[in-house]
Amino acid sequence: MKLVDVYEVDEAPEVLYRLMEERTPEVNISHRALPDWDTHLAFIASRPYEAWFLIVDDDSPVGAIYLSKTSEIGVFVLNAHRGKGYGKTAIEMLMEKYPRERFLANINPANERSIEFFRSLGFVHIQNTYEKR
Ligand SMILES: CC(C)(COP(=O)(O)OP(=O)(O)OC[C@H]1O[C@@H](n2cnc3c(N)ncnc32)[C@H](O)[C@@H]1OP(=O)(O)O)[C@@H](O)C(=O)NCCC(=O)NCCS
Repeated sequence: MKLVDVYEVDEAPEVLYRLMEERTPEVNISHRALPDWDTHLAFIASRPYEAWFLIVDDDSPVGAIYLSKTSEIGVFVLNAHRGKGYGKTAIEMLMEKYPRERFLANINPANERSIEFFRSLGFVHIQNTYEKR
C-alpha cells in the first residue's frame, strides 16, 4: 500500500468524488450537499490542504487521506475496502511523513466507528464544537 499525491494522478478527481458520494450523514460533519463537478474541481485546484493523497494498493485507489494546514487529518476508505487496515496504515504513514507535536481529527459524535478507529490509534477526545447557522 502507498500514498500517492492527488496532484500526480489524472483520475484523482473521480476517485475523490466517489468517496464523497459514499459519505453517510454521520460521516459528513459539515452537512453540505454533494458539490457539483465543477465546484469539486475548483476545490481541488485551490490546493486546500497541506498534503492530500490517494491510498493506493496494487495500483487501485482504495481511499484518500489529507492533512489540513491546521494539522487535522481526514481519512476516507471506500466501503468495499473498509476493515482491511488501509485507514490505519495510511494515518501512520502520513504522521511519519509530516511529523509534528500533535495531530487533530474532527469526528461527528454520531460516527461511532470512526471514534473507535481514532481511539485505537491513540487519539483522545479533547473538545466538542457547536455551531449556529
Ligand atoms: C474510519 C475509516 C477511515 C477506517 O478505515 P478502515 O480502513 O476501515 O480501518 P482499518 O481497517 O484500518 O481499522 C483500524 C482500526 O479501526 C478500528 N475499527 C475498524 N473498523 C471498525 C468497526 N467496524 N468498529 C469498530 N472499530 C473499528 C479497529 O480498532 C481497527 O483496529 P484493528 O486493526 O486492531 O481491528 C473508514 O471506516 C471510513 O472511511 N469511514 C468513513 C469516513 C470517516 O468517517 N472518516 C473519519 C473522519 S475524518
